[in-house]
Amino acid sequence: MRKAVIIIPTYNEAKNINNVVEKIFQVQKNIKNWDLHVLVVDSDSPDNTTDIVGELAKNNKNLHLLKTDKKGLGKAYVEGFNYIIDTLKPFIIFEMDADLSHNPQDIPSFLNKIEKGADFVIGSRYISGGSIPEDWGIERKFFSVFGNWIIRFGFMNLRVTDWTNGFRAIKTWIIKESLPKLENYTGYVFQVALLDNALKMGARVSEIPVVFVDRREGESKINSGQYTFETLLYIFQYSSFIKFVIVGVIGFTIDFGISYLFIEIAHTAVWLSTLISTEMAIISNFLLNNFWSFSHKKLKHGENNFLWSFFKFNLVSSGSIIIQTLGVSLATAFFGREFWYIYKIAIITFIIIPYSYILYNKLIWKDK
Ligand code: GDD
Ligand code: MN
Repeated sequence: MRKAVIIIPTYNEAKNINNVVEKIFQVQKNIKNWDLHVLVVDSDSPDNTTDIVGELAKNNKNLHLLKTDKKGLGKAYVEGFNYIIDTLKPFIIFEMDADLSHNPQDIPSFLNKIEKGADFVIGSRYISGGSIPEDWGIERKFFSVFGNWIIRFGFMNLRVTDWTNGFRAIKTWIIKESLPKLENYTGYVFQVALLDNALKMGARVSEIPVVFVDRREGESKINSGQYTFETLLYIFQYSSFIKFVIVGVIGFTIDFGISYLFIEIAHTAVWLSTLISTEMAIISNFLLNNFWSFSHKKLKHGENNFLWSFFKFNLVSSGSIIIQTLGVSLATAFFGREFWYIYKIAIITFIIIPYSYILYNKLIWKDK
């Protein structure tokens, strides 16, 4: 029988904790091949959450309690992970809120996905069958829905629909390998960081629909301003896609700058200047993408692979030059020359960026 530990972080959940723990162990009765354990990680709640859990644990050997200092949700989870990886050594670890916003009855669907080979299962509120509460205020709805879209586009990973919900089942080895990268994310943003790391490690991520209900007791501890700021900062620091766009802008500047110097100042032939400037931009793009944007899939120097990939990169880049030349020529032929720069910007945004990003991922910096 495989072991699964459900981590429930708590801060002032005295009115909920009993209920949620009871419901989880009810669910165990219908699960044959998994041994469920619950670890409550309490951050020094001033209400009597810990006493309640302590009492319950006396009669339940599968219920555990870890007390920590109040240093944020991410910190509480990391301490919980460290604790169970060393002691209980489960096959999978669940994340789940204490306030019954997450329904323990969904647990078997998570386990089912794991049995079918998933490494990381997300309870999603944004796929068919899942939902956010009707009675959430318009700001909270907007914050959640729009936030998830920003993250999906920020990472250019549209396949995962819910990056922020804290209802998940994750294989222990993924958590173990991600731990060193999670140290700095003490708040709610840690959820985004963990998923991003798992995807970069090549984890098989899948989703099940969950209905998120608003808590009845106690109150939310989320600090929306801080959460938004930290999430945007995280995306900016770690999104390959955003770095790829920045690299593109640098490449454009190099191309333009060198052309200008050669043509205007050195009076070199236009064809030669253009050839040199374009190739310099291609080299810069290749190196910056390799060592920065796609550093988690870095091609190593000296390997055969490196030169071959550089050659492929040149082909893909020549493709963008051809597409741009044809596109701008066609657009100006149809609509006149007046707004040529708008056509150029549109072609870069809607054709060149997706074209290069997809081909880089498929041909050069392949997913693990
Ligand atoms: N140990 C500990 N320490 N637990 C905490 C802390 C902390 O500093 N802060 C919050 N928690 C616990 C709460 O007691 C609750 O069990 C769970 O974390 C979620 O906190 P809520 O305060 O209920 O957050 P929410 O419902 O507003 O947050 C929802 O949205 C987040 C972002 O989308 C939930 O779905 C979260 O799972 C989700 O990450
Ligand atoms: Mn909640």
